[in-house]
Amino acid sequence: EEDKSLPAPVKIKLDDTSDKITLGNGNDVKGTRVRVFGRVHRERRQKEVMFLTLRDGYGYMQVVLTGPLSKTYDALTLTRETSMEILGELREVPAGAHAPNNRELHADYYKIHSHWKAAGGDDAITNRVSKDTEHATLLDLRHLTLRGETASKVMIVRDAVEFAFNQVYKELRFRKVSPPALVQTQVEGGGTLFKLNYYTEEAYLTQSSQLYLETCLPSMGDVYCIEKSFRAEKSLTRRHLSEYTHVEAELDFIDFNDLLDHLENVICRVLEVTLSNPVIKQYIMDLNPEFTAPERPFLRMKYEDAIKWLNEHEIVNEDGEAHKFGDDIAEAAERRMTDIINRPIFLTHFPAEIKAFYMQRDKEDPRVTESVDCLMPGVGEIVGGSMRMDQLDELMAAFGREGIDPTPYYWYWEQRKYGSSPHGGYGLGLERFLAWLCKQHTVRDCCLYPRYFGRCKP
Ligand code: 4AD
Repeated sequence: EEDKSLPAPVKIKLDDTSDKITLGNGNDVKGTRVRVFGRVHRERRQKEVMFLTLRDGYGYMQVVLTGPLSKTYDALTLTRETSMEILGELREVPAGAHAPNNRELHADYYKIHSHWKAAGGDDAITNRVSKDTEHATLLDLRHLTLRGETASKVMIVRDAVEFAFNQVYKELRFRKVSPPALVQTQVEGGGTLFKLNYYTEEAYLTQSSQLYLETCLPSMGDVYCIEKSFRAEKSLTRRHLSEYTHVEAELDFIDFNDLLDHLENVICRVLEVTLSNPVIKQYIMDLNPEFTAPERPFLRMKYEDAIKWLNEHEIVNEDGEAHKFGDDIAEAAERRMTDIINRPIFLTHFPAEIKAFYMQRDKEDPRVTESVDCLMPGVGEIVGGSMRMDQLDELMAAFGREGIDPTPYYWYWEQRKYGSSPHGGYGLGLERFLAWLCKQHTVRDCCLYPRYFGRCKP
């Protein structure tokens, strides 16, 4: 029974360290009496005392159950993940002991509704998700593994990073738009299109919102979006998803150097904003203890020089031969180069043949395009961008060369008919950015419920 003679409790989240809370010392100084809700993250028993770590998604709190409170039926049968309501006094942890926020809750009352109890025995979460669980099973149990410390930290950092992108684009006066996911045009090649029946017509899931962003420039100024993109990637790699979050921006009346400067600015400012939150910074340091914000300027390297660099370092192409101009730099070679150089690289001026149809040629060297990939150590490419062809005849010729029927693209090429402009933009894979920032082995661990070849559940 709750003791009604005690001070009325203050309802708080587990991370609340605001002024309204004082910590008792177990003697003369009384701490604030609080009411908290959460799930049992961990529990251990020491003779007459039970220590719980409670979790509510905002933080963790150590809870101490003593005397009769540690001997009730509910306490004796308590299972991990059970939800609890707990009332008690917040006190400093004894000298030499450690607990989140250096405090512990000395419970005087708790309540567990019967349906709040988590399964125990063979069905206990610790039996279903453990160090020995098969990898494939863990993926099927993503709804449970998300409760783990690493997964939840990555997801919380993700929320902060997405918020930071929005803030930084607002600082730069970009307008946010929301282009369609159901489309009838390709952007990055027919090989990775997800096709579907759209009533009586064929449609695709969008590969990129770029073409739509370009149509916003004339009336909205610089624009961005944070939307899903879809790619039917048929290989299993640690950086390819079928559905990913794409941060894309498009800038009007710029040249290629403006684009590179802007990109460097956005990446660095997003990191600054993200790290300015001490909790998020701590999560990033927990996940990636060696993290240091990248130094500016980023290394700028032309594709042609990268080919030379790869050959000087005897890094061969996928056929086991020396790289030559025109080769696609494959994932493995790209990552080795980035890891050796060990700082962000803007790889620029790719040959037109290996890049998308819409990319602007370099006036000085028409073999290559004004294109950029941003490469990060540990992951490789996290951004792809370029200046766009802004002349109608040139763009129509590019459609022809690529064997793309321009008819469904009328709304795209007509931009060049009604007041064209030098413009460019880029797309950043949010999961790849996070894999780099949070030092995750794969992008699959950087999204809520990953979708990739062979997996569409849970
Ligand atoms: O280089 P990509 O294909 O470029 C575009 O889609 C441009 N149309 C974007 C633009 O200019 N607005 O993709 C851009 C980024 C890549 O650098 C990568 O980070 C990410 O999107 N990406 C993927 N991330 C996860 N899984 C996949 N299958 C990805 N494909 C691309």
